[in-house]
Amino acid sequence: MDKFIIKGGKPLEGEVTISGAKNAVVAIIPAVILADGPCVLENIPEISDVSISLRILYEMGADVQNLGGGTYRIDATGIKEPVVPYELARHMRASYYFLGTLLGKFHKARVAMPGGCYLGDRPIDQHLKAFSALGATCSLDNGMVDINAGMLIGNQIYFDKITVGGTINTMLAACKATGLTVIENAAKEPHIVDLANFLNSMGADIMGAGTDVIKVRGVRSLKGTQYAVIPDQIEAGTYMVAAAATRGNVLIKNVIPKHLESITQKLAKIGVNVEEFDESVRISVDGPLVKTSVKTMPHPGFPTDMQPQISALLCLAEGTSIVTEDIFSNRFRYVDELRRMGADISVEGKVAVIEGVDHLKGAPVTAPDLRAGAALVIAGLAASGVTEIDDIYHIERGYENIEKKLRALGADIVKKSVPGSSVRKVEVG
Ligand code: EPZ
Repeated sequence: MDKFIIKGGKPLEGEVTISGAKNAVVAIIPAVILADGPCVLENIPEISDVSISLRILYEMGADVQNLGGGTYRIDATGIKEPVVPYELARHMRASYYFLGTLLGKFHKARVAMPGGCYLGDRPIDQHLKAFSALGATCSLDNGMVDINAGMLIGNQIYFDKITVGGTINTMLAACKATGLTVIENAAKEPHIVDLANFLNSMGADIMGAGTDVIKVRGVRSLKGTQYAVIPDQIEAGTYMVAAAATRGNVLIKNVIPKHLESITQKLAKIGVNVEEFDESVRISVDGPLVKTSVKTMPHPGFPTDMQPQISALLCLAEGTSIVTEDIFSNRFRYVDELRRMGADISVEGKVAVIEGVDHLKGAPVTAPDLRAGAALVIAGLAASGVTEIDDIYHIERGYENIEKKLRALGADIVKKSVPGSSVRKVEVG
């Protein structure tokens, strides 16, 4: 397996450009199935979750062309069988978006249940509740989710729990249903809005994305379209935190500042300077980093996908910080790895108590999942000495060319290929 070798202690300086949003792209690529013609997608990041999503479409019979520069032309009209087998679906949790899109197009779907419990229990009961409300019958046998609907009829759907995936899957299934679907207690993340904009560019009729009530008026058909995906606010936040942790000075380009508000506010409370421009933010640190409290919440609250990264920064802040993970039940798996680097963190249930230390020390660590891996990269960049990070395939699921982008900012980071040392684990996330 590949490793990152980081020689830390160098402030990040310069400019970095943010790529397309992973959590928008893993929804938009399957959504192409709904179109009665080819789609051209732009600003698609080169990450493994994208390659897996495109591979699934290709194996199902779609024509996928890489036009270069992050642009793809996809014609999914060749897909006849609404089935995604386990060997393809198991690599990525987001494969469950094929349920909503295949149901929306074919009124049936058979997709392998994503495995894994990287972040704790991750049921899809709310997705299935929505599909049933639209008239589908859902069953789970032999690890496959089987959904069938004679007709899809619009309905009122209230989510018992705010769910990004459930909101996305419902939009996908409802946009060609007969009549009006109202989704209440909907998730409001930027990638929900991006998917709605993509579907509307195909001729869908979706109103209210970004609020907690989304209205989907079913249409008879959806056409091919050309669409550029939004920048990744979590990638941007990760570089903001890396710049702060190394006390550097970095201009982060191709961002939508509004999507970063909760991250910007939290960094300012910690003592980080954040200068906002139209499509970029500049990060610098003059004085000491100071303790704060963080609680993860659905958008527009502080994103759970930034929790490991901000915790790594708080390891270097004066005083005692409290981090509460309120979305997932098992998102502190990076804590043991940070302790190996000299961090002083204790975890009790969904709360981590972080005592700031003067500095971290490089050590061999292993990435347990995508965002935890990003936190270890940040810690390694800030630490004195050398940090080796194993299982970096987790990190490469969501960060395009991360070592190249960091090297361009002055980081001493190299990727080292180690011949198959550990069996590749099934990854979800
Ligand atoms: C999406 O996961 C993202 N993944 C996650 O990003 C992100 O952390 C999460 O949303 C929250 O923002 C993708 O977009 C591919 P949820 P998702 O449904 O859709 C519970 C990353 O690092 N729940 O909003 O799975 C669930 O267990 C990844 O990029 C139910 O109980 O998240 C969790 O506790 C990690 N029943 C909470 O809701 C359901 O039917 C939020 O989950 C669905 C969810």
